[in-house]
Amino acid sequence: MSKYLVTGGAGFIGTNIVKMLLEKGHEVVVVDNYAGGYKEERIQEKARYIDLDIRNLEALNVICAEGFDGIFHLAALPRVTFSVENPILTHDVNVNGTLNVLIAARDNKIKRIVFSSSSSAYGNLETFPAKEDMKAVPISPYALHKFIGENYGRIFSELYGLEFVSLRYFNVYGPYFDPEGAYALVIGKFIKQVKNSEPMTICGDGEYYRDYTHVDDVAKANILAMESGNVGKGEVLNIGNNNPHSVNDLVKMIGGESVFVPERPGDVRFTQADYSKAKELLGWEPTVTLEKGIEELKKEWGI
Ligand SMILES: NC(=O)c1ccc[n+]([C@@H]2O[C@H](COP(=O)([O-])OP(=O)(O)OC[C@H]3O[C@@H](n4cnc5c(N)ncnc54)[C@H](O)[C@@H]3O)[C@@H](O)[C@H]2O)c1
Repeated sequence: MSKYLVTGGAGFIGTNIVKMLLEKGHEVVVVDNYAGGYKEERIQEKARYIDLDIRNLEALNVICAEGFDGIFHLAALPRVTFSVENPILTHDVNVNGTLNVLIAARDNKIKRIVFSSSSSAYGNLETFPAKEDMKAVPISPYALHKFIGENYGRIFSELYGLEFVSLRYFNVYGPYFDPEGAYALVIGKFIKQVKNSEPMTICGDGEYYRDYTHVDDVAKANILAMESGNVGKGEVLNIGNNNPHSVNDLVKMIGGESVFVPERPGDVRFTQADYSKAKELLGWEPTVTLEKGIEELKKEWGI
């Protein structure tokens, strides 16, 4: 069994990874400063949680000196709109924080980092589905931060031999999502609105297509990326379903009243993942369809 550090492990995706690692019998330490909110239901009894800001390199070094087999690096301020409004703060956490994680891993001889990147790094592509060898042209600070993180990791692997893999997630949803606040992700926001008997608020014309990916599949991809002998040199892998749906489709699937509200700056129109590289290198494939994932969430929320 291995010992892993999960940065941002008290967040939505982090919690799902922590749970899966514990189920497999691994030892898990989480570092998180709860910038995304402290949520009791996410705390896993068998994991150790350390309240720490990844911008604090000194403290990060003390933790990493304990020794870990690998780091799942998820800690970030992860919302596109928030980064458009707060480019300095989000750069500090997403870029400088990531650099700290790389340095702490390098200096404490931690073998591998699996980095949570984002499909937003691609920007507005002209052809679909997105493939990793297409030119990335980020169109928001957040997307740029992720692109820089991927490249920092690749460079650290080339310069210092630190193993590094980037996973570009395509809109993740599922259990432990955060339905609160102005920056909530669309499926969570809609589920909560329906639960509260409010109309679902569709930004712009609702013809924004996303390749929604279930968080169970994302957690599996992380563990495969940590364990696989085929990766570690800074590869970038798409983690998506290759099956985009519009916001208007979501409204139909969830069912209920809806209203249109102004669109958000920095949002791309369409995403679709070609995941053949993850399939080839990790043996990873998505297993949960959007229909099934939404049905499960509706059941969980009693709607
Ligand atoms: N949810 C998605 O659809 C999606 C898509 C693409 C990429 N990602 C990436 O996956 C990762 C996890 O996303 P999520 O949806 O679970 O978000 P989240 O906000 O739920 O989780 C991020 C966690 O990082 C923590 N954090 C923030 N700043 C920190 C700091 N300075 N020090 C320590 N911890 C800090 C937060 O408290 C939070 O628990 C992020 O890196 C995000 O960019 C998410």
